[in-house]
Amino acid sequence: MTRVQRLLATVDLTRSYRLGSQEITALRQVNMNVLPGQFIAVVGRSGSGKTTLLNLLAGLDKPSSGQVILEEKDVAAMSEDARTRLRRTKLGFVFQSFGLLPLLSAFENVELPLRIAGVKPKEREQRAKDALQMVGLTRRSHHRPYELSGGEQQRIAIARAIVHHPSLILADEPTGELDSVNARSIFGLFKEMVRNQGISVVAATHDSTLLAMADQVLELHDGKLSTRERESHRYRD
Ligand SMILES: Nc1ncnc2c1ncn2[C@@H]1O[C@H](COP(=O)(O)OP(=O)(O)OP(=O)(O)O)[C@@H](O)[C@H]1O
Ligand SMILES: [Mg+2]
Repeated sequence: MTRVQRLLATVDLTRSYRLGSQEITALRQVNMNVLPGQFIAVVGRSGSGKTTLLNLLAGLDKPSSGQVILEEKDVAAMSEDARTRLRRTKLGFVFQSFGLLPLLSAFENVELPLRIAGVKPKEREQRAKDALQMVGLTRRSHHRPYELSGGEQQRIAIARAIVHHPSLILADEPTGELDSVNARSIFGLFKEMVRNQGISVVAATHDSTLLAMADQVLELHDGKLSTRERESHRYRD
């Protein structure tokens, strides 16, 4: 029997916040696994803990108890340097509000993480071109963000998130500012990347019409995880 190596896992992941005398538990004992090449959607009402979960998976926040295990290593047990390195090499982030730099062209925005990582110009150019091609926006390379539609800006943000070839993309409400047509196309793009590149995606969304495109749907209720009916079915055309 071949065992699929899990890319990411959580063990009883819990995060509480203390506000004066009040304690708010935003996430309670969440156990989940992400396999290579898997597209997971996280749903739940406002305040159910989606952003808290994604920030913990990203190593941007620390659990109150429990663990995040990335490639079989406990993220909280690493040094700050090692965690930063891991974030820069293994993970890509996509946010609701795109987060593109307004004075840079689409190409320069996509290339930026490689500049920061000290990648040489020739390789930078090739990789940024490849990423722009993957999101179908080669012809918009020289546009500034304000010269692009919302859907196009989010595609550029996705190109930026994949330009360093991460294993996992974490996306917090990536379609929150888009209309339904663009939202479907962004989820379609995730699905395509998962299938063609073997990247894994964990994306939070409010929009239940997008869920059929994910391999698995995790639902949060007051910080507790439940899995939906169709989740064990690995979605493939
Ligand atoms: N820094 C904080 N201090 C105290 N409580 C917090 C903090 N951040 C989040 N919370 C609380 O934790 C709970 C989960 O919040 P979270 O932002 O994870 O929800 P969410 O599912 O992302 O909501 P939304 O759909 O509105 O983005 C909420 O009750 C929120 O008020
Ligand atoms: Mg949120």
